[in-house]
Amino acid sequence: MHQRCSNPQCAATFELHDRHVACAVCGELLEIAVEPPPIAPDQLKRIWLQRRCSYQPRDISGVWRFREFLPDGYSELVTMGEGNSPLLEGRKTAAWAGLRNLQFKHLGWNPTACFKDLGMTTGVTEAVFARARCVGCASTGNTAASLAAYAARAGLRARVYLPAGHVSENKLAQAIDFGAEIVHVAGGFDTALERILREANGSLYFLNSINPFRLEGQKTVMFEMLEQMGWQAPDYVVVPGGNLGNSSAFGKALQELLAAGFIDRLPRLVIVQAQGANPLTRMWRSGADELEPIEKPETAATAIRIGKPRSWKKALRALEQTDGFVLDVSEDEIAEAKCVIGHDGIGCEPASATTLAALRQLREQGKIDREASVVAILTGHALKDTSFILKSRLGEPALQGESYA
Ligand code: F0G
Repeated sequence: MHQRCSNPQCAATFELHDRHVACAVCGELLEIAVEPPPIAPDQLKRIWLQRRCSYQPRDISGVWRFREFLPDGYSELVTMGEGNSPLLEGRKTAAWAGLRNLQFKHLGWNPTACFKDLGMTTGVTEAVFARARCVGCASTGNTAASLAAYAARAGLRARVYLPAGHVSENKLAQAIDFGAEIVHVAGGFDTALERILREANGSLYFLNSINPFRLEGQKTVMFEMLEQMGWQAPDYVVVPGGNLGNSSAFGKALQELLAAGFIDRLPRLVIVQAQGANPLTRMWRSGADELEPIEKPETAATAIRIGKPRSWKKALRALEQTDGFVLDVSEDEIAEAKCVIGHDGIGCEPASATTLAALRQLREQGKIDREASVVAILTGHALKDTSFILKSRLGEPALQGESYA
């Protein structure tokens, strides 16, 4: 395995554990080039399943269980049993969206209640391997909480750059609880990211999703989902998009699994953005070649309040390779979808509810079939943003207790 420039025109390669923030030749983002393991897919599928009966930390982890497709060479893994998240069905949500075959993969069932843990186990493990003392990121909240927890487990210092006033209290509280040093940045996530990149300057190990080791962990969501579905790909996988690291990771996983013969067809990847933070959607609709950043993104789904997503080229390739597409949803649609999910007894944060909102929109427009099999990715837990619930619901008695059956 090695690192490779994600720009196909460049494709420069680097040693697996070299420490770069971007390609040293062309400046584009890096990725990990995985060589398919020399084990037949059916055999490896059995091995992965057997590991679920083991009590070894590297088998309990729903990330490292799939280690044949992950970076290697580590003597110590920083893991907290992340992954192993359920596929949940919801009667009300399915009826509301007009779908017969809808499941949620709930990544809020992770140690810090968000999908970021899947990438932090690999990212922080690599940071320890690289002998880093301090790790850092810019964040809308969840990456910060997860980084802080995994850094604490590994005995590393953590420094997180947060957009002042635009991070949910619950996420901020987690980062504080796990002992991170907090830098409040005036401006949004994009400003915070620019600032850490400028200031970090080798003093910390950088763990935003432009770090390819993070995406390796996050890609295992697709491995686990497909395993749970008997390796039969659904028709659609729907995922919220912010900095677009997660959708890129999913695209990478699907390509690798197809190429190695683990699946014989790909699901279509659907990325969902909030209308006020929708640079990829705008680009997609206009047919432009370059992404035009949004200077002042705005959405109550603060997790995805991002105007200049760094991984847009990778995400675009994932859409092209999976015949996917991107769309946006309004603030009202997000709030209503979140309410319906809640009424099914499933707690997710607002950014995650964009998936259901998008599905209803697509059904109303006749763009997806009622019988289509769909997995919507819930990226974070309801307790990540309790003030959103109180603000959006207590003020609107009409929604209280309403049945969507
Ligand atoms: N959903 C949640 C709950 C998130 O926290 C994020 C991103 C996303 C979706 C979007 O994922 O950025 O990979 O496209 N949160 C980052 C953070 C930006 O700092 O916590 P993405």
